[in-house]
This record gives sequence, structure tokens and C-alpha cells, in this order.
Amino acid sequence: MSEHETKSEALGEPTRRDFLYLTTGMAAAVGAAAVAWPFIDQMRPDASTLALASIEVDVSSIEPGMSVTAKWRGKPIFIRNRTAKEIEEANAVALADLKDPVARNANLPPEAAATDIDRSAGEGKENWIVMIGSCTHLGCVPLGQAGDFGGWFCPCHGSHYDTAGRIRKGPAPENLAVPTFSFISDTVIKIG
Ligand code: FES
Repeated sequence: MSEHETKSEALGEPTRRDFLYLTTGMAAAVGAAAVAWPFIDQMRPDASTLALASIEVDVSSIEPGMSVTAKWRGKPIFIRNRTAKEIEEANAVALADLKDPVARNANLPPEAAATDIDRSAGEGKENWIVMIGSCTHLGCVPLGQAGDFGGWFCPCHGSHYDTAGRIRKGPAPENLAVPTFSFISDTVIKIG
């Protein structure tokens, strides 16, 4: 050890000057990370949006007459397994009697009529109806198996939807919207 060399320098330990340098360097690094994070966070699509771009729902346990509400892109999605009687009731309604004669089914051309089959999941799956659970009046969530037509009832201002989700009475202007969906197996529905 030379005359001017301190004991710690001789031992290879950080000197006080080195230590100050290290801590300052670390503060700078932390500072940079703190600034970078908000930008990264803003650029990244919301994790829940990514996760819910499409969802798959197993409907094997939904018996006729039962329904479930799934969540897709922040909206409630009604999935109902209709009974034969409920399908019959919807089929018995003449298109001319409907307030909104348009299917509002994202899987069909925009001009498709609001027949029961075109409101449902289609041939062979007509018992299934999948809809966005948002009242077309002002967006409340209607109640299932309720209302004058046994379909859905929106208690906010009294809109009644039939078993095909078509508006029949009350202030709502349109049938409940059918989102893009398909059966990817006999029992699994992919929405979105
Ligand atoms: S929001 Fe449903 S009736 Fe007004």
C-alpha cells in the first residue's frame, strides 16, 4: 500500500467517491424508468381489451329455458337456450306487427328481416339466441325471462322484448343487437 492509497482502495472496495457516483447513476436509471413507464403504458392496448377481443363460452350446461350472461368487450352478452314453446311464440308473430322489422344481426346482411330464425343462431341451432344485453333505448341492462312477452324487460323505462329479443312495447326503438358469433363446436360459442 503506497502512502497516498487508502486502505479501501488497496482492498478494491468502492471509495466514497465511487459510492457517490454509483448512487447518482442509479437514481438516473430509476428516473428514466419512471418517465418511460407512462409512455409504454399508454401505447400498450388495455390488457382487458386484448383479452376480450373475442371470448369462448361453453354452453353445454345451459338447459332449455336457461340463460347465462357473459361479458365481452365490457358489455353483457345474453345467451339463452330457448324452449320449443318460446321459439313457437316468436315464430307466430307476423313481421308487420314488429316495431323494428330488421334482424339487427351482425352475422347477416343489414337488411335481413327480424324473423325468428334470423334472430337466432340459425338452422339447427334456432334454440340459441345470443344478444348484446344493452337496451336500445338508453342502454340499461334488461332482465331475462320477464316482461309481457316472456323475453326480456328493461325496467328503466319499461321496454318489453319478446323471446327473440325483438322490441314489442315501450320506448326502445330497435331489437336487441346480435353480435358477431359462431358455434366453434357443438357446445362452444365464440363471440367476437
Ligand atoms: S333504457 Fe331500457 S327502456 Fe329506457
